[in-house]
Amino acid sequence: MENISNQYQRQTMKNWILILVLSVMTVGYVNAQKSTLQKQGTATQLVVDGKPFLILGGELGNSSAACTEDIERIFPKLQRMGLNTVLVPAYWDLIEPREGQFDFTLTDKVIRQARQNDLKVIFLWFGAWKNSMSCYAPLWFKENYKKYPRAYTQKGKPLEIASAFSKNVFQADNCAFSQWMEHVAAIDKEAGTVIMIQIENEIGMLEDARDYSKEANALFNAPVPAELMSYLQKNKKTLHPQMLEKWESQGSKKQGTWQEVFGADIYTDELFMAWHYARYVERMAQSARSIYNIPLYVNAAMNSRNRKPGEYPSAGPLAHLIDIWHCGAPNIDLLAPDLYDNGFTDWVAKYKLHNNPLFIPEIKLTDNNGVRAFYIFGEHDAIGISPFSIEGGSDSPNSPLVKSYRTLKEFMPLLAKYQGKGAMKGLLFDQENKERIIYQDDLKITCRHFFTLPWDARATDGSVWPEGGGVLLRLAPNEYIVAGSGIVIEFEKATENQVKVRALGEDGFAQAGGKGDGVISDKVMWKGARCGIGSVDEVKVNKDGTLSYIRRLNGDQDHQGRHVRISVGDFQILHVKLYEYKYCLLYTSPSPRD
Ligand code: DGJ
Repeated sequence: MENISNQYQRQTMKNWILILVLSVMTVGYVNAQKSTLQKQGTATQLVVDGKPFLILGGELGNSSAACTEDIERIFPKLQRMGLNTVLVPAYWDLIEPREGQFDFTLTDKVIRQARQNDLKVIFLWFGAWKNSMSCYAPLWFKENYKKYPRAYTQKGKPLEIASAFSKNVFQADNCAFSQWMEHVAAIDKEAGTVIMIQIENEIGMLEDARDYSKEANALFNAPVPAELMSYLQKNKKTLHPQMLEKWESQGSKKQGTWQEVFGADIYTDELFMAWHYARYVERMAQSARSIYNIPLYVNAAMNSRNRKPGEYPSAGPLAHLIDIWHCGAPNIDLLAPDLYDNGFTDWVAKYKLHNNPLFIPEIKLTDNNGVRAFYIFGEHDAIGISPFSIEGGSDSPNSPLVKSYRTLKEFMPLLAKYQGKGAMKGLLFDQENKERIIYQDDLKITCRHFFTLPWDARATDGSVWPEGGGVLLRLAPNEYIVAGSGIVIEFEKATENQVKVRALGEDGFAQAGGKGDGVISDKVMWKGARCGIGSVDEVKVNKDGTLSYIRRLNGDQDHQGRHVRISVGDFQILHVKLYEYKYCLLYTSPSPRD
């Protein structure tokens, strides 16, 4: 028989094991990363509190978080607008007004207000650079230009741009950033309100494509760093086409100075500068990771309107420089475009790359932002979108952005479930680009702008068409979700033979009697199966991704079974079931058929 002492020892041992397990679990919980990036199929998802999270964001205007009263006033409005995330500057000049003395009042206020208004926060470190310039560096830094040197143009003009080649610049910037990150981590690690950090803002050289300071010139004439050379060789197959072309133009050299390897032009100057910006940012990113390990990104001003390096913030995290940035700053998770120019679909396609998930931290605030959000989630498995100067937008429940964010929030479980699996298409239409045809399974799916239908006066009265857009999600063969606004979709079998029919009027009858405007061939016999609309139901998406029926849309609402549509101005989620029918023996054909 066991004596009492053995029993006691065994019990004590059990207790210790239990304590150990609990403490491991507790430590695990406390240190659990609240926000992280994870792969799902071909997509990279932002995962927050264990669930995929799509950023329905907005970025504050530059000076809107510079006093506590503004933060207090603005944040409740953002909640009414339906945002789930706010992007907020963290201003170096206000955080370290005197060298070594830190003030985190605004940061604390942002985090508190965000929590009270059910918002996540992405902080933007306005440190050494903001839109190229160093305007957010504190005055003590700016005045001491001997210690904290400037970048120079080729002609020797000092710029209000701190030199990325100066150790002192980096030390001052990184010291403030690290102190601030320590503070953010201390107050946020458990709650996880802060979900990403943007390091600097729209880094880039202006006036010339590179810095011509003494340090910069010396490095420019030195060999291209070995790690970049071996990166190019190792990743040759997947390099950005512009990068590959530039390297190959000089014979794909394995070593040499920047000009020897890439040629002597301003595009080489930009590559050189990008490398050094990336190295600088990488060191900042390493500091951030060691303090608070959440996703990190950098944003870029676009090289649009045929501008050349030096004419836009050059060497920033631009798509054509992605290899330089990836190699130079491996701790940066994504390069993000700020979109203010025309050509939205082209721009986003440039930043959704096999090695870069799409996040739009800034886009011009317009009524089209809502449908564009649908488009990028459906077409590009995007992480999120964030119109700029968001506090200036409308918080009316009927404004397009508010409606769109409300619908997207509900749609999120399905979007998250299907990202990266090839089941979704994004739709986006305007007056010039009215139609997209998608072939899927045995279907031809014609998607169009709502105004291609004959029944909205705004289509033809000279109004500028608001963009229409949405997501087409294939749940199963013949079963779809159509979500968004201002779109119309027709389904037919891709194998149907095409007998041209006369244009139909609003009621679905021939537009005019007699021969009219169309061609009806009475010679061609019908072939193949047809596709019909079984049902169109407006649905609500539940938190677990299941659907709840709201109402059946039939009759006039699906044009008596001819199409699925969502009007301009409405945002809806529709569940569509299709069925097929075909010629069968009951029909006595006048001629042989197959
Ligand atoms: C892009 C910058 O990143 C923003 O901070 C802001 O300056 C906008 N441009 C323009 O207002």
